[in-house]
Amino acid sequence: MTIKTLLIASLAIAGLASCGTHGPEGTAPKAPIQLIPMPARLSETSDSFLLDKRTVLVAATPADRKTAELFNEWFHSLSGFELAIADSGTMNAIVFRTRPAGEKAIAEGYQLKSGKDVVTIEGDDEAGTFYGMQTLIQLFPLQSATAYWLPGVSISDQPRFAYRGLHLDVCRHFFPVTFIKKYIDLLAMHKMNTFHWHLTDDQGWRIEIKRYPRLMEIGSRRKETLDGRLEDNKFDGKPYGGFYTQEDIQEIVAYAAERHVTVIPEIEMPGHALAALASYPYLGCTGGPYAVATKWGVFDDVFCAGNDTTFQFLQNVLEEVLILFPSEYIHIGGDESPKKRWEKCPKCQARMRAEGLKDEHALQSYFIRRMEKWLNEKGRKIIGWDEILEGGLAPNATVMSWRGIEGGIAAAKQHHDVIMTPGNFVYFDYYQSQGKNEPLAIGGFTPVSKVYGYEPVPEGLSAKEASYIKGAQANLWTEYIGSPEHAEYMVYPRAVALAEVLWSPGERKDYDGFLERLKQHFPRLDKKNVNYARHVFEVRPTVEPDGKNGVRLRLDTKLDGGKIVFTTDSSAPDAAAISYSGPIPITKTGTIRAIVLQDAKPYGNEYQQAFVFHKALGRPVTLPRAPHQNYNPGAFTLVNGIEGVKEFNDGQWTGYSGGTMEAVIDLGDSTGITRVGLNYLANREQWIYPPKEVVIAVSADGKHYKEVLQRKDPGGYGIVRLREGLKDVKARYVKFTLRALSRIPEGAPGEGEPAWLFTDELIVE
Ligand code: ACM
Ligand code: ZN
Repeated sequence: MTIKTLLIASLAIAGLASCGTHGPEGTAPKAPIQLIPMPARLSETSDSFLLDKRTVLVAATPADRKTAELFNEWFHSLSGFELAIADSGTMNAIVFRTRPAGEKAIAEGYQLKSGKDVVTIEGDDEAGTFYGMQTLIQLFPLQSATAYWLPGVSISDQPRFAYRGLHLDVCRHFFPVTFIKKYIDLLAMHKMNTFHWHLTDDQGWRIEIKRYPRLMEIGSRRKETLDGRLEDNKFDGKPYGGFYTQEDIQEIVAYAAERHVTVIPEIEMPGHALAALASYPYLGCTGGPYAVATKWGVFDDVFCAGNDTTFQFLQNVLEEVLILFPSEYIHIGGDESPKKRWEKCPKCQARMRAEGLKDEHALQSYFIRRMEKWLNEKGRKIIGWDEILEGGLAPNATVMSWRGIEGGIAAAKQHHDVIMTPGNFVYFDYYQSQGKNEPLAIGGFTPVSKVYGYEPVPEGLSAKEASYIKGAQANLWTEYIGSPEHAEYMVYPRAVALAEVLWSPGERKDYDGFLERLKQHFPRLDKKNVNYARHVFEVRPTVEPDGKNGVRLRLDTKLDGGKIVFTTDSSAPDAAAISYSGPIPITKTGTIRAIVLQDAKPYGNEYQQAFVFHKALGRPVTLPRAPHQNYNPGAFTLVNGIEGVKEFNDGQWTGYSGGTMEAVIDLGDSTGITRVGLNYLANREQWIYPPKEVVIAVSADGKHYKEVLQRKDPGGYGIVRLREGLKDVKARYVKFTLRALSRIPEGAPGEGEPAWLFTDELIVE
């Protein structure tokens, strides 16, 4: 891998230093300064610090000593030797010093100065000193040596956001304690400070609760697991299970605390509760029987809100949780909780009458408020997913905005704290590449650049409202992620991008600069055996109008010395393929494949894209009604020659929630047309339905149209390709009108809501 060569270059520096002595600098070569996340303020000085075996780590307090020890542990893994730790010293020393409380301090801030005689890290608090230590580590060249030159720097740094989180779902798949520790260690390496541990869900209960042994005996196991896509409905036939003992949890929480990471446990309620209900069926409205779920999705059976025993159970569970987790915040879920059982349950209905609750949303609000009150009395605060807004927010709740940013905006306007976790930007279970070699993922398309471009503070908030946005978090739901290696592949380097978004000042954002620094960062991840994804240096495709009468494909790579080769006949590209020298015109239907070569060897994954060639390619398209903001990739994608794939969030589909879509293509001139058509998507699980009606009409002047196709209820499932042959038709304008299903039918997911209409590639041949 190419990064190795970069590495060797910086290694030579340390090699030279290894025979040096602690003497005058001036001739010392310096390693490039490539810090991630970028500090708030950084200046280079002409001094260098020579670290050798006599260098002493100075730490006066227990917390600083812990930080010095963690540095030493890392340093030993690099160099093979450790440094002495002392209480004092100012010559040939690295000083870790947390300012005493009471001095003017910025939470988690630090100053780092490296000079000829001493490196000083002064933290505004203990976490600040720790982050200064993390920065110091990044000043080292990654080479085993007996001495190191460190560049002279003066850094003054602090985080932009107080909450910098990463989540892990251990219910859909279980991850071992060693991996959880590695996950936390990597978080801390990137100056992230919160680990949100999703411990209970339909597919498994993963935390030992001594008072309720059936949660482990029954709730932590499932009979088998869905194998492949949800719609294929195939199962692996293998029992699956696992849970963390209370000792495991104590060990993990302590490990995290040493690294200034807060662990927030999530105990889901009232939905995502099947594992608990299977263990104790009296907690559900119907009394069961229930089984731990073996597939993914949202299930109708939830905790009964009419039964006081439910609240007693959850409080007893939380009593044990609170002993294990010192975090101020406890996450109580609140998302995706269907109201169907509550509508029919006599106890739930009686509760609504007794409490004067007008509907089941108000009952959910009652549920959350009641749990909040209990937790507040114990000195804790709750976080819930944005559904806790429905029916009214609990008085002190913090909202995690995941279904886009709207929940976050609404909560901030109500002066509630908000953590932003919008799916499109920070769900790391989404695809990170549109390449064909990706492991199966839940959908979406969230490349590193999109994460890096994410701005956590939504537009349109006043300064006061914006102050309630405490930060953001990426979520890793693990339906399709069964191993630590796969989890790392999904999280890194996207989490590195998020770390910079959350730590560095907004005005220092610079994606190209980030990628440059990432080249140096990858070897740091290699050193920790992280199975990170390499997409950022692979082929980067751009499909664009060619300005005349079609589209072209531009390819580039950020890999230093990388060379792109491609084929247009579907054959695998290798060193003998065509060298890329400029945009490739799309002139026929077929597949283009391309790869980056480095030293004539393939780097990372190949790019593969099928194109459909037709007469509307690159032509102007007007959409009188704007698509939904989350599915509005631009009208050009409707005529770019790329058909949307099954993953509806792939950046190709144009989506509307209900209503009518109209699109008019201007072919420029009167043109003979032999076939028209379009693709739409149908996926009931995701609330996406075929149109109720499709009309295609043509016109010479853009005013008077003649219908050439009219279909009522064309139906179908998956990607549906509707085509119609035409005879003796000439036209300049082609108009497509699609009417969405206005209400999702009863019994289907999302019943009563407007259906989604997804269209991609409008075809004119
Ligand atoms: C969620 O993704 N259901 C919070
Ligand atoms: Zn009930």
